[in-house]
Amino acid sequence: MVIRLPFFRKKRKKLERIELDNTPEHIAIIMDGNGRWAKKKGLPRIAGHKEGMTVVQKIVRSAVKYDVKVLTLYAFSTENWKRPKPEVDFLMRLPKEFSHIYLPEMMENNVRIDTIGDFDSLPTHTKKAINHAKEKTKNNDGLLLNFALNYGGRYDIIQGMKKTLKQIENGELSVEDVDEEIISNNLFTAGINDPDLLIRTSGEERLSNFLLWQLAYTELSFTDVLWPDFNEELFKKAILDYKKRKRRYGGI
Ligand code: IPE
Ligand code: IPE
Ligand code: MG
Repeated sequence: MVIRLPFFRKKRKKLERIELDNTPEHIAIIMDGNGRWAKKKGLPRIAGHKEGMTVVQKIVRSAVKYDVKVLTLYAFSTENWKRPKPEVDFLMRLPKEFSHIYLPEMMENNVRIDTIGDFDSLPTHTKKAINHAKEKTKNNDGLLLNFALNYGGRYDIIQGMKKTLKQIENGELSVEDVDEEIISNNLFTAGINDPDLLIRTSGEERLSNFLLWQLAYTELSFTDVLWPDFNEELFKKAILDYKKRKRRYGGI
């Protein structure tokens, strides 16, 4: 039998408050290693992607718990079209499956879903599933769950430059006005603070064309764990490590 003593409850609340202190507001994750995870188990690569999707949900839950404001997940890069068509097709069907299984929980947790990247070039059925999720969650004001889908950092900068040049052409802006703020506001991540923490799984230590402008002063965290084996404990560890770091931004 469990007896709930009020003084125990108080103690736990206090601990949680300490844990929430100085949490990174924006966490970006390069969810890598699905294929290798599947290979190790003698399964097809797509089995890794499917398992990876369940990890997304677990990490979203943790992010809500730790009061993270924005979670940007690299789901498909502009270079991932190079993969075999059956794998790409499978990945393009995942948003629908994700919505189907997890949308009710997203609503319960007050999560807003959005995407960054070249949305128009996605298959129609993928766009439809994502638009449904965006529409359904648009009034939620908790965690922003931002999927980088058909996203590339260089593509982001190019489209941002084009927007800026158009503003100059239209006379809304002069060349002298162009500064960091204007460029930032013309990127896909307009209105979102730069990531405080970037996590990459699978042991690779590179950016693979992710958020090139936005990661200028982001703290980096690499783990050898493959994405389908990533879990709440490792996520928490990355957050706790982040809290110990001293960000200097070029100062002293
Ligand atoms: C990450 O896992 C998911 C996507 C890039 C879509 P990978 O599919 O890159 O897995 P590995 O790196 O080949 O193991
Ligand atoms: C980065 O992983 C893209 C995503 C996680 C969506 P990749 O597996 O595509 O990166 P590289 O090819 O190892 O650099
Ligand atoms: Mg990979």
